[in-house]
Amino acid sequence: MYDFKIEAADKPTLYRDLAQALEALIGDEPDAVANMANAAGLIWESLPDLNWAGFYRNVGGELVLGPFQGRPACIRIAFGTGVCGVAAETRQVQRVADVNAFPGHIACDSASRSEIVLPLVRDGELLGVLDIDSPRPARFDEEDEAGLRPIAEILAKAI
Ligand code: SME
Repeated sequence: MYDFKIEAADKPTLYRDLAQALEALIGDEPDAVANMANAAGLIWESLPDLNWAGFYRNVGGELVLGPFQGRPACIRIAFGTGVCGVAAETRQVQRVADVNAFPGHIACDSASRSEIVLPLVRDGELLGVLDIDSPRPARFDEEDEAGLRPIAEILAKAI
């Protein structure tokens, strides 16, 4: 068991420490499932106020559930549908302050109030998305997005 205890005074420091811990966890490991599983665990343990953190993979043009922490979730999501599907289709980060106001939001866990989804792109190919949900409205601000973008870049190389 790895014991990464991240305690940071501010968000930029928190995400810098998180990126370093993620790099250390991944190391030279080439197995995508192992790296996604450890990343989901690390994010879940390191960021406060989450109710879901994990991955959907691009499997033949459809998002299919990958390693995660939290409640069991929807297995398949079409591109363009819900927050994850829009992130996959547009390849743009989706940061949603109120999921109930997002057209087509898929309520896998009714506790979710806000969400951030980052596309994972390598060499022009969409590999999947990183989805992080919170029971707190507007949980994710610009600093969270800025901190998570490098995390998504590390992950895109490791899955
Ligand atoms: N809320 C997501 C679905 C995935 S779960 O929350 C894990 C969405 O609308 O894309």
